[in-house]
Amino acid sequence: MSKVIVIDHPLLQHKLTLLRDKNTGTKDFKQLVKEMSMLMGYEITRDLPLEEVEIETPVCKTKSKAIAGKKLGIVPILRAGLGMVDGILELMPAAKVGHVGLYRDPETLEPVEYYCKLPTDVEERDLIVLDPMLATGGSAIAAIKFLKDRGATNIKLVCIIASPEGVEAVQKAHADVDIYLASIDEKLNDHAYIVPGLGDAGDRLFGTK
Ligand code: PRP
Ligand code: URA
Repeated sequence: MSKVIVIDHPLLQHKLTLLRDKNTGTKDFKQLVKEMSMLMGYEITRDLPLEEVEIETPVCKTKSKAIAGKKLGIVPILRAGLGMVDGILELMPAAKVGHVGLYRDPETLEPVEYYCKLPTDVEERDLIVLDPMLATGGSAIAAIKFLKDRGATNIKLVCIIASPEGVEAVQKAHADVDIYLASIDEKLNDHAYIVPGLGDAGDRLFGTK
């Protein structure tokens, strides 16, 4: 079974409170999502392999550590996942970015694909899937399946808020995918919105609605 890591760093939790607040406007919401993604990036990359490299300081030659291993790819689920890209890229500027476009049909709540563009060497990369909200889990499950269908084998899912139902559904569908979160909230409501949640992440990020 995959790991579920809820990151309880005080800075992250403080920013989450601001993000949830209905009085937080689009500009601050966007900035908070970026900052939180960067903070979460530390935890997501904790297990990256290191290798020793030789360098020369102004004083002498020495051996020092550098990140080794596979190349990274970031895959935001459109739209709301876009808000998390810049924060992660600040930490890993060499990562390639793929995009999966999905929206949740408001009637059926099923994810509908409308866009998919991935790095050509996606099967060689460690992938980090980004979406602020994990509600029923339908969107994340579908996005991860697209990636696996195209050969990806090492995938992490990073969301800001999840419902218990969403976490369970992803774990059931993709038992090999670790999930990183800032919070597991109480439940889903009758419209499959996360309670207490933060409302519609895409609309709050982009000022729609
Ligand atoms: C939101 C959110 C997730 C999805 C989560 O996107 O960003 O992608 O809903 O719900 P699920 O776990 O039940 O699938 P939405 O479909 O509203 O599209 P948007 O990002 O374009 O606003
Ligand atoms: N998508 C959102 O943006 N918010 C929710 O609470 C559920 C799905």
